[in-house]
Amino acid sequence: MSLRHYLRPRLLCDDDEIGSFECRSDEQSDWLRRHARQANASDTARVLVVTEFGSSTVVAYYAWCMAGIRAADTPPRMRRGAGRYRQPVALLARLGVDLEHEGRGLGAGLLKDVIARTAEIGTEIGCRGLVVHAETARARDFYLHLVPAFEPSPTEEMHLVLLLKDLRKFIKDRATTLRHHHLWDRGGSTYLAPDLFSGTAARVYKLS
Ligand SMILES: CC(C)(COP(=O)(O)OP(=O)(O)OC[C@H]1O[C@@H](n2cnc3c(N)ncnc32)[C@H](O)[C@@H]1OP(=O)(O)O)[C@@H](O)C(=O)NCCC(=O)NCCS
Repeated sequence: MSLRHYLRPRLLCDDDEIGSFECRSDEQSDWLRRHARQANASDTARVLVVTEFGSSTVVAYYAWCMAGIRAADTPPRMRRGAGRYRQPVALLARLGVDLEHEGRGLGAGLLKDVIARTAEIGTEIGCRGLVVHAETARARDFYLHLVPAFEPSPTEEMHLVLLLKDLRKFIKDRATTLRHHHLWDRGGSTYLAPDLFSGTAARVYKLS
């Protein structure tokens, strides 16, 4: 497998080439090609993309937004103290890795990126955790393989919920076991995104 030089996930730009993107899912491919720009422009979702060094072709992406989840649809641990109110969460709405770039850690890198960003926004605004709508059983297996702390919704097994508390624990555990992937400052309160992605200054995520 040849060495590729991927840049860190960043917001989709006008100059990015998305027309040739093709991942294993028609739905995820089509969404990037046909809807991502509009979703970004209308503030409905933020689209984060990965390109290779020196190229504007998008090779992997995810889209996320704020969402509310009915208390009845949340795992029992999230329901505690929730009353009957919808619970505020971040929703990972889309994710895909171009077929040519599969199996190189990009999917895992994107998932870690959205997890780190969720931890960050969770210090600024009420957020109970991260929700993923898995499109297929295969996609669901991917999420559970990487983050076993995801819990299925009791009403929809393809919807996975990661409590903010578990999300922070995931980051901390990864930071201590994979020091080449994550770096912590001396106070242990900042987190640098995975080193899979190279490029400009590392993004620093604050954790409480
Ligand atoms: C699922 C997808 C994102 C994986 O991307 P990828 O870049 O090939 O994944 P990675 O190389 O980062 O794999 C990371 C790990 O997940 C594992 N993995 C990948 N796909 C998996 C699956 N379907 N089930 C279980 N584990 C899986 C890999 O073996 C690897 O494991 P390891 O770290 O223990 O070696 C990609 O195949 C894809 O775009 N699929 C179509 C779109 C889709 O289903 N998106 C999710 C919609 S909700």
